[in-house]
Amino acid sequence: MIIACGGIKGGVGKTTIATNLAIIRAASGADVLLLDADDQETSSDFTIVRNETLADKGGAGYTSVKLHGAAVRTDTLKLSSKYDDIIIDVGGRDTAGQRAALSVAHVYIVPFLPASFDVWSLEKVGTLVQEAIAFNPDLRAYCLLNRADAQGRDNEEAIEVADGIEGLTYLQALVGNRKAFRSASAQGLAVTELKPVDPKAVAEIMALYDSIFSISN
Ligand SMILES: Nc1ncnc2c1ncn2[C@@H]1O[C@H](COP(=O)(O)OP(=O)(O)O)[C@@H](O)[C@H]1O
Ligand SMILES: [Mg+2]
Repeated sequence: MIIACGGIKGGVGKTTIATNLAIIRAASGADVLLLDADDQETSSDFTIVRNETLADKGGAGYTSVKLHGAAVRTDTLKLSSKYDDIIIDVGGRDTAGQRAALSVAHVYIVPFLPASFDVWSLEKVGTLVQEAIAFNPDLRAYCLLNRADAQGRDNEEAIEVADGIEGLTYLQALVGNRKAFRSASAQGLAVTELKPVDPKAVAEIMALYDSIFSISN
């Protein structure tokens, strides 16, 4: 399956979700390619740290490559038969790479935050998805609440608006704002590998993982 974590906002958790999904998928025995399509190369930097952390345990466990622009489409298509799953970490802007990812993905996940909730950007992404579906009819596009507040009305208000965005389906599996995600990323780990374990963070990412990998076309 080809999964892209995208959207046109930075700092919403695209790389966090892409890297966690890649690691968990690879740990299940799949041959996974993590494709870094962001100029900022955060997921490639993450993989460098991961390879250092796990140097004596066989390294990252997945393959990582950087690609930009139209190559995100052409090379993903070329590589798709060589891997069980390809996870694309897209930059937070409307770029050729973003559109290329939309043109090849089976599943496109757009994280959004409750606080600085930006309806306009989700609407714009919804429009990009609708355009992409014309030539990629298999595309399934979802938005996902990340860094959800532990309490308060912000989550519900954001979800209500997200639910009404054309082109994006609201994915129920939300991910809370948890320090464990930052601590794990800083060490090149998925939250499932972090010690001490944060059981709530693990349960959330596993629920997200299960819902994404059970999507079929
Ligand atoms: N669920 C979460 N809980 C806490 N911190 C998070 C969570 N998701 C992401 N972050 C942190 O937010 C920042 C931005 O996340 P990142 O995945 O790099 O976003 P993007 O790739 O969309 O720019 C990072 O410091 C990351 O560790
Ligand atoms: Mg990123």
